[in-house]
Formats: sequence, C-alpha cells, structure tokens
Amino acid sequence: MIRWKKPEVDMQNLPRHIGIIMDGNGRWAKRRGLPRSAGHARGADNFKKIVRFCGEIGIDYLTVYAFSTENWSRPKDEVEALMKLLSEYLEKAYKELDERVRVKIIGERQMLSPTLQKKVADLEKYTESRTGMVLNIALSYGGRQEILHAVDQIAAEVQNGSLAPEAITEETISDRIYTNGQPDPDLIIRPSGEKRISNFLLWQCAYSEFWYSDILWPDFSSKHLLAAIADYQKRNRRFGGV
Ligand code: FPP
Repeated sequence: MIRWKKPEVDMQNLPRHIGIIMDGNGRWAKRRGLPRSAGHARGADNFKKIVRFCGEIGIDYLTVYAFSTENWSRPKDEVEALMKLLSEYLEKAYKELDERVRVKIIGERQMLSPTLQKKVADLEKYTESRTGMVLNIALSYGGRQEILHAVDQIAAEVQNGSLAPEAITEETISDRIYTNGQPDPDLIIRPSGEKRISNFLLWQCAYSEFWYSDILWPDFSSKHLLAAIADYQKRNRRFGGV
C-alpha cells in the first residue's frame, strides 16, 4: 500500500492562476460499467469540490476546461448530457457557489443554445462585482480559435484605421483574448494520464508549469491539487532567462 505523505505547500507562495484539464470522466465510468454521462456527472461534482477548495486556499484565478470546440463531435446524447450538467450548474450556482467567486465563461458562446447563452450571461452579470477568485469555465473553447478571433479583431481595427500595424505587440493579442486583464496560468494540471495540451490556453501557457497524473478527474482530490502545487513550488521558473 502506498502511504500518502501530506505535501508541504508554502501557502504564501501559491500559483496565482491554475488551469485544469478535467480529463478521464469516460474512463472512470467505463471501469465501473457505467455510461459516460455518469462519469461526467461525477466529474461535475468533483469540479464543484475543487472550485471550493481553490477558493478556500486563496487561488486568485482558476480556469477549467469543461467543453472544447472539438467536443461538439461527440455522440449527440453525450453532448446533451454535458450541456444539461452545465445548465444545472449555472442555475444552482446562485445558491451553491461561494459568494466571493466571480464566474466568467470563455469560448465560442454563440455555439451554445440561446437558453444556455442567457444563463451564462445572467450568472456572469450576477457575479461581476465580486472580488474573490475568478472562475473561468472554458466552454466551447479552443485555443487556436481564441487566437484566430483576436487576429480577426486586430485585422478589423487595422482596416478601419484605429490600430496602426506597427503598434501591434504581444499585449495587442493578450488584450483581445478571453482572459484579457488576467495573469497567465502559472500551473496547468492534467489528470488521466494524457500528456497533451489539447488546444487549452495556447497563447496563455507560454511559460506555464505542467503537472500530469494518472488519476482520473472524478477521483482527483484536494490532496492531488496540493501535490501539484508543492511540485510547482519546487520548480525554478526562469521565463526564458538564466
Ligand atoms: C474529458 O473526459 C472531459 C470532458 C470532455 C468534459 C469535462 C466536463 C466535466 C468535468 C463536467 C463539467 C461540468 C461543469 C458543471 C463545469 P473524457 O470524457 O474525454 O474522458 P475519457 O478520456 O476518459 O473518455
């Protein structure tokens, strides 16, 4: 039996922004002979626990990958099950979510149903003035699409004369992506054994530290999060310097 050693975390030196790819719901369900939707339901419950824990320990920004632009190609019943979970979450968040947390949905929201778009806009508005943790939920999100969208905007501004081509800098792009005004993620966590970025926060992850684990998302707990943070704190971030 492997004994769990409590990770030593320096609570004064937490990553400001954590990104999580919530992967492995399907395998979690399959191992139990359950439908994939049951894995997503457990994944959604776990998402709520991890959001609460991140808020409690003082993380400033948490970005979770809930549904990618590529996930639309999954079987219709699976997409519907995921949209239902998201819709329920957006309704229950008024009562269940810590009242300091500000919610922001990042992604191609026009792809969502009109009802879901309204729920998204309502919750964002309701939590807009909160000053605690920012929770970005990536929904119909793709990193390449996000960059493309910024480039489209820049091209339009250049064309209408409001932006000079020689004035385009990295900030020009950072200011036009969904996470504008937020720090880039310090730490990106991917459970489930895959070691890919899968189109998540491509622009923002330039200097992020990565942490992978074989644990499946529904089983990922606060102790795994602390282990990831402890590991992150041991690393020497040089941002390209020496
Ligand atoms: C990847 O696991 C997971 C997803 C595509 C969905 C993630 C969604 C949730 C955790 C629920 C979100 C709900 C709310 C309320 C935010 P997978 O299905 O690809 O798993 P597999 O690789 O084992 O098949």
